[in-house]
Amino acid sequence: MPTIEISPLRVLTPLMLLVMCHCGPQRPALPESFTVDPTPAWGDSKGNAALGKSLAMKYCTPCHQVEGQGKFLKGAPPFVQTANRADIDAAWLRRWITSPQREKPGTLMPDLGLSESEVEHCIAFLYQLRN
Ligand code: HEC
Repeated sequence: MPTIEISPLRVLTPLMLLVMCHCGPQRPALPESFTVDPTPAWGDSKGNAALGKSLAMKYCTPCHQVEGQGKFLKGAPPFVQTANRADIDAAWLRRWITSPQREKPGTLMPDLGLSESEVEHCIAFLYQLRN
């Protein structure tokens, strides 16, 4: 009687295929960068942009350039530049405007003592400057 040689590969390959198929298609885990919205909407701010503008003209122009007005203190970015940053969102602005010193100890921007709603108005105004 002829002996039939069965190589281990012949047995293993279909077995592995069977196991793989049995598991079904599995979604590969997305890398972190794909699950985070790269430009989170600022639109969730309930502030009023017009009020924000007048607040900005009053409280921010001593250091920031706001729509071509105001000073350009070294290190204080013009608002249009900040508004177009892709890496910030309303939550960050809230933290920054409320307490720049806590966000970046030693920064030249002072805590301006704005109320919660005034901060929201400023954020809404900044959002409007995006282009
Ligand atoms: C006394 C000067 C001064 C005033 C007044 C001031 N800022 Fe600033 N601001 C700065 C400086 C300086 C920086 C840069 C801080 C740093 O990076 O250390 C800054 C940074 C910022 C940033 C971050 C900008 C970026 O692109 O990183 C925001 C947002 C901001 N200010 C908002 C405001 C708002 C809103 C007001 C008015 C309500 C205001 N600032 C008033 C000095 C000021």
